[in-house]
Amino acid sequence: MSHIGSYDERVKNFSWSISEKELDYKPGDLINIGWYCTDRICEQGKGDKTAFIWEGMTGEERRYTFHDIRRASNTIGAFLKNQGIRPEDRVCLFLDRVPELYFGFLGILKIGAIAQPLFSAFGDEALLVRMKDAQTKAIITQRKHIAKVRRIRDQLPWLEHIFIVDYDGKHPLQEKETAFALDREKPVEKLDVYSTQAESPSVLHYTSGTTGQPKGVKHVHYSLISQYLTSKWVLDLHEDDIYWCTADPGWVTGTSYGIIGPWSLGITQCVLDKGFSAEAWYAFIEKHKISVWYSAPTAIRSLMKAGEEAVKKHDLSSLRHLTSVGEPLNAEAVIWSEKVFGLPFLDTYWQTETGSIMISNYPDMRVKPGSMGKPFPGIEAAVLDPATHEPFKEPGKIGLIAFKPGWPAMMRTYWNNEETYRAKFKNGWYLSGDRSSIDKEGYFWFTGRDDDVINTGGHLVSPFEVESALLEHEFVAESAVVSKPDEVNMEVVKAFITLKPGVETNDDTELKIMNFIRKKLSPLAMPQEIEFVDSLPKTRSGKIMRRLLHAREWGEEIGDTSTLENEE
Ligand code: WT7
Repeated sequence: MSHIGSYDERVKNFSWSISEKELDYKPGDLINIGWYCTDRICEQGKGDKTAFIWEGMTGEERRYTFHDIRRASNTIGAFLKNQGIRPEDRVCLFLDRVPELYFGFLGILKIGAIAQPLFSAFGDEALLVRMKDAQTKAIITQRKHIAKVRRIRDQLPWLEHIFIVDYDGKHPLQEKETAFALDREKPVEKLDVYSTQAESPSVLHYTSGTTGQPKGVKHVHYSLISQYLTSKWVLDLHEDDIYWCTADPGWVTGTSYGIIGPWSLGITQCVLDKGFSAEAWYAFIEKHKISVWYSAPTAIRSLMKAGEEAVKKHDLSSLRHLTSVGEPLNAEAVIWSEKVFGLPFLDTYWQTETGSIMISNYPDMRVKPGSMGKPFPGIEAAVLDPATHEPFKEPGKIGLIAFKPGWPAMMRTYWNNEETYRAKFKNGWYLSGDRSSIDKEGYFWFTGRDDDVINTGGHLVSPFEVESALLEHEFVAESAVVSKPDEVNMEVVKAFITLKPGVETNDDTELKIMNFIRKKLSPLAMPQEIEFVDSLPKTRSGKIMRRLLHAREWGEEIGDTSTLENEE
């Protein structure tokens, strides 16, 4: 049994007050994630402990103690405040995984503003819709991304400030732009942390849905209560661990478990600001003696592809606990990792909306490769009959994954979109939008999403967003976007297109369309294939039947299409 107690024990005696007590928090107290992740750790006498080991693209390494990250987040917070950023203003972080991203995130929270991290590979359009929706007041970015911001700034009347963290003085700054260099600012030793409370907003993460624009998921400072305890019990973080979360903070894993969870526990964490390569990853683990690793199935499958020989070139004996999230973790990947690392990757399941891990393989639990595990203590999870929204009485049936609302890290609403938020609840349950079954022993087995959203390499892509981008091209009459199978990414994006009369299909047509949408979408959302067709299958009311195209790509039974045609 691990030091955190057995799963069954924990479930029996569970209350979120366990987490509140460990964090010295009582209902009604002030609570600020930025303070908890830095000042509190220093107050506990761990200020000189290494908080952050960072490695950049060219191999340069930087190390920061908890005192350093406390001061750096103070300095950024004070700077933003002096620039007129007020509590609840949205401040966008549009940065690669540079140290300023991590310290800026905490600095924004410390002054009571709302952090809006956006993945730095986003194209103009993706950035624009998310900043427009949030009415973002300031954006923190770096030189290499400034061109994107400049191209869309005129469409963002709320945007008052553009802060550049690595300005080199070579080109003149434009209107609203200000240089901010962390190492040239006077370090701020003391900052008045804003008096945020449990329900004060903290983070706004955007996620893709089937229809409409991306939704802003609003989180609050009280989410810490879930993030702290799940980091301790599921990621099994111990005082002397060296932890590596491979996710980018543009996505929720990179904030909940790449900033908040580990630092609120005072754990040393590493970041590699570099694209994927098996060799670079193994070298990183070996060099920093990483013991706890949180990654994703697509990365694991890519490591599998690189082969066992690549593993053998390195001493990876520091690894103690491996965890995964974001997409289905296939049984082969679990079995492979057990063989080559001597440890299985343990699957965890959750969403941007849930804010923290909901279902997972607990450290002391028997692993059933291919299963997501069981609900975290205190989480009431069920599989509902889609017809009645009642939990199935018997095991083995496939239905909707649902949770009883009320855990601390649950989203509080979709930004400016209360209606869509409310539609996520049925019969007293929060509906995740995923499907699974539960076996006799209470293990959850993921079967797929309950909507048309595509999960490619762990990133959700809305078919609607891709279709909209395609439709803006002068050649395109209609489009339908679905997933097709892929060995590494599980799913990739495929677009079906009908062209306007007179447009010819040749290699050039495809290239022109691809180049056009590349500027609008993130690289993750780019179709891997475009198929030109004469017409698209439609329902009688004229809606495109993505389901039919999807079934064709996956070689699934299409069933009775006449009923499909009757669908509204
Ligand atoms: C969707 C949430 C919060 C984690 C990062 C993704 C899928 C997530 C698993 C898993 C199968 C999974 C679901 C979920 N997903 N974890 N272990 N097995 N599917 O956050 O972008 O909000 O995506 O990712 O479909 O709803 P997200």
